Amino acid sequence: MNDPRRTLTVSLAERSYPIHIGSGLLSEAGGLLAQATKGAVVIVSNATVAMHHLAPLRASLDAAGLRIEVILVPDGEAYKNFDVLSDVLTRLIEFKAERGTLLLALGGGVVGDLAGFAAAIYQRGMPYAQVPTTLLAQVDSSVGGKTAVNHPLAKNMIGAFWQPVSVIIDTDTLRTLPDREYRSGLAEVIKYGAIRDAGFFAWLEEHADGLVARDPAALAHAVDVSCRIKAAIVAADERESGERALLNFGHTFGHAIEAEAGYGAWLHGEAVAAGMVLAARLSAELRGETPVVAERIVSLLTRVGLPVAPPKMTLARWLELMGRDKKVERNAMRFVVLEGLGHARLRANVPESALRSLLA
Ligand code: NAD
Ligand code: GLY
Repeated sequence: MNDPRRTLTVSLAERSYPIHIGSGLLSEAGGLLAQATKGAVVIVSNATVAMHHLAPLRASLDAAGLRIEVILVPDGEAYKNFDVLSDVLTRLIEFKAERGTLLLALGGGVVGDLAGFAAAIYQRGMPYAQVPTTLLAQVDSSVGGKTAVNHPLAKNMIGAFWQPVSVIIDTDTLRTLPDREYRSGLAEVIKYGAIRDAGFFAWLEEHADGLVARDPAALAHAVDVSCRIKAAIVAADERESGERALLNFGHTFGHAIEAEAGYGAWLHGEAVAAGMVLAARLSAELRGETPVVAERIVSLLTRVGLPVAPPKMTLARWLELMGRDKKVERNAMRFVVLEGLGHARLRANVPESALRSLLA
């Protein structure tokens, strides 16, 4: 907590990689990445992020003697698609990028997922580094190697597990992040406490005001603990055959909210916030308990300015949308439920009656 700069490891045998967390790290990227490339770096970013953060990154890579190319993609979830992926691949061919060239994703989860997928398939796989600049990307999408683009029929449906060689989290980049995007990222931070670490959840309750004010020490600690939890879960279950699905706490409901509202109307973290409340209430209902944990989650989410109630939808619509979830197995929906704060598990066979009373 006193040393805001630290390095964690995602332990995946020969594919293990560091997560560097700290202030001012964009200016150190050249040194941190010099070993990861045979001399060239292609940065993928968008104009919004590049305007704020490209210059120090570029200067650092330049000072390390690396050849640099930049690809700017359009800003927004709508552009995480095949057309933009194809444009990125075309530019890589035009630059004569080789297997030893490093791709570097500078931006939020959209840029990270898209660039990561391009790296996974260009010449059957090239190394890439994640330099996430949203809170959501710093605590979630940059770690764990899930890459994807959206298919017109379903979000994140086409992609690959392809681990980065390094994640560089410069917490200073969050200073330019719009407030709504920042709060949305806090939902994923709160999720880690809810599913894995009651002590961290209590710490978040204690430091909610500091986090909302983007206090650097509180922020560094929240990013650190979140990445530690994510790294441990990914190391235990890289391909989501079990434990990794717990990271989807609140997401089954959340994805339905996002789909119903139209992507972008609710930010991902906002939908996950309301989804976590539903998942926690469902957990209490299934256990026949009073929803004490759910109320703590409601209270914390409210304090950081996140929504806690979903939009109005019929039960039939909820079921239709949730039936498209990637956790669906042999046609049965599965939900991440809490067996107490900090203890999540995957639960199949949730009776429709429980969903009916929850979503009425
Ligand atoms: P995003 O990438 O769209 O970024 C949000 C907005 O903030 C964009 O307009 C972006 O240009 C802007 N921005 C980014 N950094 C900024 C900065 N420092 N200052 C100012 N503006 C900045 O959204 P996101 O929330 O970061 O990511 C959402 C995406 O992540 C979704 O596509 C989702 O599917 C994906 N995701 C992936 C994983 C995974 O494991 N791969 C996990 C969670 C989410
Ligand atoms: N965001 C969920 C995962 O990485 O598995």
